[in-house]
Amino acid sequence: MDRHTATPQVDSLPGPRARKRVDYHHEFAARSTYVYEFVWDILEDAAGPFCTDADGNVLLDFTSHVGAAPLGYNNPKILDPMAEFELVDPLKIAGQDFYTTAGDPDSPEFPGPAELMDRLVDATSHYDMDTAFLSNSGAEAVENGIKICYDDTGGKYGITFEGAFHGRTLGALSLNRSKEVYRRKYPEIVGIHDAPFCDDTGCTPATCSCGFFAGDTSQLRRMLHPEKGYVNADEVAFLIMEPIQGEGGYRFPSDAFMQEVADLCAEHDILLVADEIQSGMGRTGKLWGADHYPIEPDVITAAKGLRVGATVAKKEVFPDEKSRLSSTWGAGAILDTMQGALTFDAIHEYDLLQNATDRGEQAKRRLREVDLPTVEDVRGLGLMLAVEFDSKERRNAVMDACLQRGLLTLGCGYKTLRLLPPLDVTEREIDLACEILVEAIGSVADAS
Ligand SMILES: Cc1ncc(COP(=O)(O)O)c(C=O)c1O
Repeated sequence: MDRHTATPQVDSLPGPRARKRVDYHHEFAARSTYVYEFVWDILEDAAGPFCTDADGNVLLDFTSHVGAAPLGYNNPKILDPMAEFELVDPLKIAGQDFYTTAGDPDSPEFPGPAELMDRLVDATSHYDMDTAFLSNSGAEAVENGIKICYDDTGGKYGITFEGAFHGRTLGALSLNRSKEVYRRKYPEIVGIHDAPFCDDTGCTPATCSCGFFAGDTSQLRRMLHPEKGYVNADEVAFLIMEPIQGEGGYRFPSDAFMQEVADLCAEHDILLVADEIQSGMGRTGKLWGADHYPIEPDVITAAKGLRVGATVAKKEVFPDEKSRLSSTWGAGAILDTMQGALTFDAIHEYDLLQNATDRGEQAKRRLREVDLPTVEDVRGLGLMLAVEFDSKERRNAVMDACLQRGLLTLGCGYKTLRLLPPLDVTEREIDLACEILVEAIGSVADAS
């Protein structure tokens, strides 16, 4: 498949083989999140954002597997170096109990866990971070992020934001304030307080409509006020935020909001954890979502595009004592760390931050120049792109109409559709996706 000429081709979706695979899968699978009956045929052609499904349909995938495949399918920038690696067994080592030579001076082309941590520290050096802990998933990166804050400060409280999503393990889900279904019936960490999250990039204390600023102060400042507040700031272990909320609806906050968060963290010595699991690894045109704002995180959590989980911070925030943090598979398999490190290399070598910025601007321009009465907002930073509709039903119908035309998209928030193309997406691919999306929106303009 040549991605420079490929176009989506859909016969029927899901076709008979896809349906059979899905049914077989669900014979054994516990109920989880499945967006579509889209079955990627791993033996068939796929390149960049194009892939072939189980029935031979060619799809334009603008989900990048929820950002976990940041360079799309079969990207030679990742695959070519990996193809040189002769498989060994075990590939998945007990990485926090043993070491390997992967990536050492004799094999720099096969970067291992140490090289991945080196790259992570380099990517966060502007926040003076110098230490990383590798884990297996985003939720674990968050769990370890808050654990080190509790340990470092001795505080018993945490602060999160309305609309937040930080994962599904018990600790991480205690921080969630998006859909109720995630937390229902599960016990939670005590002492987690929340504040409104700003979703208006132009918001100021004088014009605020998000509820964060009220009167002459902010909700957070009110919460932490030494006399009038209800949370003792000295006992706050961390404040955790997605610099740009993902699952909660691709919500982009204002500088004023971020400045107030940064000021309060500085005034009260509160550790600021930036959950970059969705907004990091170049997705927004900068390496981290936080890089767009006047904040200075103390801890960064990453996963998805990194292929493993990572908690990054200054050395002094991590516990000194052995065994406070550990995980058998921490750092995943040798191939995972290699992919993560090569992803960083590709971002730098091929100037993918600039590409993400340019292509994101192109997509917004293309969508905004069309009159789309059912669309309430087109927004985005880099390739973290969102289209908000007038109703949830409309959003769902548009996603389905896109799928039938061969474009894979995702939902988020209540009535928002999100687009996460690969970081090296081309001008032609953005045009193609926008064309399909506009046509799909037009086709369901009458849905209620
Ligand atoms: C911002 C954010 N934090 C944490 C997570 C949890 O990551 P994982 O599903 O790898 O546990 C996600 C997953 O979507 C996420 O978007």
